[in-house]
Amino acid sequence: MKKIILISTITIVLSACATSKENSSSAEKKVILSDLEMGQKLYQNYTQANFDDGKNLYNSKCAACHAAKYPTSKSPEEWKAIVPNMTALSNKKNKPISSDEEVLITKYLVTVSSK
Ligand code: HEC
Repeated sequence: MKKIILISTITIVLSACATSKENSSSAEKKVILSDLEMGQKLYQNYTQANFDDGKNLYNSKCAACHAAKYPTSKSPEEWKAIVPNMTALSNKKNKPISSDEEVLITKYLVTVSSK
């Protein structure tokens, strides 16, 4: 009887170890995407130039009235709502942002905040 208890205890301990090993190795396998890889996952034909343009536009046009906030300080959904509002405000204040520029800025912010 004692033997059976011992063997089943060992089995339980061993299987617990095996499970935790599996968990840690799957965590290690978690892929961290580059900015470009994330952008291409979200948007068809997204290029490094699109990303760089969006970043430059954000850091110039969106820093005209206040400091440009960290792209990760808002969620992708928040950015999708904020950028059109801020573009409209900027255009109203004679600091023009074209619709092409608005798209590049949005894609840049959504890409970075999605990671
Ligand atoms: C004409 C000046 C001006 C420009 C240009 C401008 N903003 Fe703003 N922004 C403001 C003002 C004023 C506020 C605060 C009042 C408000 O929230 O409407 C603000 C607030 C914000 C906030 C905080 C709102 C929140 O919900 O936390 C964010 C984020 C933001 N702007 C992002 C942007 C982005 C992105 C751009 C470029 C597309 C931009 N801003 C361009 C004037 C500007």
